[in-house]
Amino acid sequence: MWRGGGAFSGQGQGGLPFAGIPEELRAHAQRLLDAEPEHPEPVVDFDHRMSVEDRRPFTLRRFFAPHKGAIALALLLVAIEVVTEQIGPLLLQIAIDHGVVAGDGSVIATTAALFVLAVIGNYVTRAGRIAFTARLGQRLLYRLRVRLFIHYQRQSLDFYTEERSGRILSRMTSDVEALQALFTEGLVQMVVQAGVLVFVVGMLFWMNPTLALILLVGIIPPMVLLSNWFRTRSDVAFLKVRDRLADLLADLSENLAGMRIVKAHNRQRHNAVRHRDKVGEHLDANLEGVRYAAWFGPGMDGIGIAGQLVVLVVGARFVADGRMGIGEVGAFVLYLNSLFVPVQHLVQQYTTYQKGRAAIVRFRELFATEPTVAEADDAYDLGDLGGEIELERVGFAYTPGQPVVSGVDLRLDAGEVFALVGPTGAGKSTIAKLIARFHDPTQGTVRVDGHDLRDVTLDSLRSQMVVVPQEPFLFATSIRDNIAFARPESSDEDVMAACRAVGIDDLIERLPQGLDTPCHERGVALSAGERQLIALARAFVAQPKVLILDEATSNLDLGTESKVEAALDRLLEGRTAILIAHRLSTAMRADRIAVVDEGGIAELGSHDELVDLDGRYARLFATWVEHGGHVRQRPGGPAPLHGAGAQNAMFCARGHTRR
Ligand SMILES: Nc1ncnc2c1ncn2[C@@H]1O[C@H](COP(=O)(O)OP(=O)(O)O)[C@@H](O)[C@H]1O
Ligand SMILES: [Mg+2]
Repeated sequence: MWRGGGAFSGQGQGGLPFAGIPEELRAHAQRLLDAEPEHPEPVVDFDHRMSVEDRRPFTLRRFFAPHKGAIALALLLVAIEVVTEQIGPLLLQIAIDHGVVAGDGSVIATTAALFVLAVIGNYVTRAGRIAFTARLGQRLLYRLRVRLFIHYQRQSLDFYTEERSGRILSRMTSDVEALQALFTEGLVQMVVQAGVLVFVVGMLFWMNPTLALILLVGIIPPMVLLSNWFRTRSDVAFLKVRDRLADLLADLSENLAGMRIVKAHNRQRHNAVRHRDKVGEHLDANLEGVRYAAWFGPGMDGIGIAGQLVVLVVGARFVADGRMGIGEVGAFVLYLNSLFVPVQHLVQQYTTYQKGRAAIVRFRELFATEPTVAEADDAYDLGDLGGEIELERVGFAYTPGQPVVSGVDLRLDAGEVFALVGPTGAGKSTIAKLIARFHDPTQGTVRVDGHDLRDVTLDSLRSQMVVVPQEPFLFATSIRDNIAFARPESSDEDVMAACRAVGIDDLIERLPQGLDTPCHERGVALSAGERQLIALARAFVAQPKVLILDEATSNLDLGTESKVEAALDRLLEGRTAILIAHRLSTAMRADRIAVVDEGGIAELGSHDELVDLDGRYARLFATWVEHGGHVRQRPGGPAPLHGAGAQNAMFCARGHTRR
């Protein structure tokens, strides 16, 4: 967002010369600056902890509070707008009764002039009000979107696996849109129309209380009945529309995300039929709402016409009795029309209001969600890590009562390279996530350098501990920005050094745009292996004290892998490292290896010890050698391992555990 005024006037106040502004214009520029309100730079500050303000339930009142002044001004503009708009029939009445009937030309001229003034005044205030309230609405939305994003950033990982991505997206799109409609039009229209209603009813009673009473007693009951019918029916229809839309969006996002699998299994036809059904249900729900609206509008018109009839019949009698002027009857009919417009508007805006209210309820729930991995109120900075890691009787369950990891005791020295091997689903990634504090253990304690992870600040922990997952995620930006992700201020040399370390420097030099090559859209199509190498380079730039590679080399072909094996030596130097390895070639480079099975540590020791133990690891290793794996000289020998055995190792391991 551009905040020219603030920045510029800051310069002026600092006594700096107005660079580039001609002498003769400076006084003018200064005047402009003085007149310009100070906009502070929008503060976007991220904190892992929710502030006291964040913890207060999200309500419209609280959300609007910072804009109290602007809202008061908007209300004033609305009041002027309503009066100037609704003064017409009153002027008409005066012109007819005191001008035309009394034959006084000056009254006609004056009321005509006043009418012109009112029209112009209405035009100006309305234009100003629309611009002002629209800007106010947009500012509110801006705050909401930023707050929503920060809230999402703060949530722990379990939030994203539990909450379906379609629902998160629908918060960001349809719920924000519902509030947008409410902020930019709905609320203002409701205030405007309510103002008109109050003004018009006031005028009716002021002109002729008897007729006003007869009229309102006659038309208000059917109006209330009809509006109530419409509201309850459209309430139900609206809830249906909302649910069907959420289903539709969830199906859409799932299909887009899984497009490759859909194509691979030729499910397009089936999925198209399923999606058509969902769109159809959404259509039906919408049509139901439309049907009610179709009856409501004409019904209100009918009541309006009946009301006019009453005014004309009763008004004619009153005129005959001399209790009312002709002009008054005319004004009454006109005001009666003005009475129906706001009622119809209000009932229609009710849907907007309702959608907005539903969105606010959902936002309130969402904003009340505390991250499950929370920073303690008295969390302290970790300081420079040594890199010692300790797990003490650690247990964890994603679903309460179904532990996937239990009773894990582990102690890693600072600088140790440690490997976790074991069958798929054994709990290796879970242990890694517990060490990085993506989850808190349900039992026991995880410590780094003797500090319980729950006691330290997330910033100080995450800046020194990096996890490279199996599926490397690249952002839609340049290769440089992807690699320098943890340290955006890194120089090109640092980034290139990381590329050299993992052996993608030649790939980058081949690209015409080099490090500036975008990773998505018109960018290079990177293979899975190249993406993993970029992810490794990203970890290299981060220079963490503790590095966790969760099968981060599993997509590499053997040629590339041998390159990375060499790079790993450099990457792991001076760091505590946890390698979750699919391939024994990677596991063998560790100082110690733990075989994880069924959520616990089944075997623990160095490669040689585990081979001597003649247990699971030994069997795994034997199978692997049988299939052509080459034994590497340990420690520090040349990069080992070529052959099918590497890929088969895990497959065999799974076979063993089943037995
Ligand atoms: N987000 C999750 N929610 C629920 N269960 C999970 C989740 N992630 C993993 N699991 C379950 O926990 C167990 C261990 O998984 P994981 O640690 O990923 O194993 P590994 O990395 O050894 O293959 C598996 O049974 C898996 O299905
Ligand atoms: Mg895993």
